[in-house]
Amino acid sequence: MRDEQLLELLTERPGEYISGEEISRRLSVSRTAVWKGINRLKEQGYEFDSVTRRGYRIVRLPDRFDEVSLRLQLGKLTSWGQPLHLLDTIGSTQDLARELAEKGAPEGTLVIAEQQTAGRGRQGRVFHSPAGRGVWMTLVLRPQQPLQYTSQLTLLAAVAICRALRDVSGLDIGIKWPNDLLIGNRKVCGILVESAAEDGHVRYALGGFGIDVNVALEDLPEEVRPLATSLRIERGEPVDRTAVVAAILSELETLYHLYNREGFAPIAALWEASALAIGKVVTVKTLQHTMTGIARGLGENGELLLEQPDGSITPVYSGEVGF
Ligand code: BTN
Repeated sequence: MRDEQLLELLTERPGEYISGEEISRRLSVSRTAVWKGINRLKEQGYEFDSVTRRGYRIVRLPDRFDEVSLRLQLGKLTSWGQPLHLLDTIGSTQDLARELAEKGAPEGTLVIAEQQTAGRGRQGRVFHSPAGRGVWMTLVLRPQQPLQYTSQLTLLAAVAICRALRDVSGLDIGIKWPNDLLIGNRKVCGILVESAAEDGHVRYALGGFGIDVNVALEDLPEEVRPLATSLRIERGEPVDRTAVVAAILSELETLYHLYNREGFAPIAALWEASALAIGKVVTVKTLQHTMTGIARGLGENGELLLEQPDGSITPVYSGEVGF
């Protein structure tokens, strides 16, 4: 059975249920094959209402970026997003962006995919990127600052995306050091900045952003569900992904120019204003050990300043924060 045959049956009588039994009879396939076919369509972004004894009904078609309106919206708000590479399925947008950057792609080049099959997060973690449900994108940057400052770009991106998502969704979104965006204590966006350097100078940086815009918890593996949320879950209605991309690029470009003109201090102030744990007791797990202290703010290079019980300040350059 081809997915198209199954879709044809499912869309034959719009709004009505069609039973698994009818599908299996008309397509001459087993009930298990029908169930597997439905699951494949779910992976492509179709949503079903399924009721015992009545069968299946399509309730939502996959959302697709419309390239023309995406270009139009981007063009109105930012000079970034050009050239634009919009793909259906890819392993990771970071990999295509790297290839393009190696071939000399200019700052502002953007790679967006409807779906990633090998999306990755920090520390080699898997990043789930279901079809049509989120914004999975990588932006090519060519920063002038020396290599040791690239972690500042991660913090800059967190501030920019936080502002953009608040603006588009009206939701209360906060930053967890260094680069997760949370609603309540659930993650809605992850940021991964990778860079390539030569003689202490950055050849390019790849800003990888994964935003759970219209993701439903069922789209995610069970183990990450308690930790994740999406704009759609929090708002109770779908959010326009094109508006999300345009708002993010516009904020990023504005803050990046501010950073180039005035350095990291104004970005750090904005970051601290949106950070969730400043002034609170946090636990930081690094590769070597776990520390507890009060998060006091950011140091000059974007490190977290942790006040220890004896009043001394320890800078933390990498680790996982819990609070
Ligand atoms: C994290 O939470 O640890 C970072 C997640 C970064 C995910 C984005 S999605 C677009 C880009 N492509 C990837 O493979 N990863 C980043």
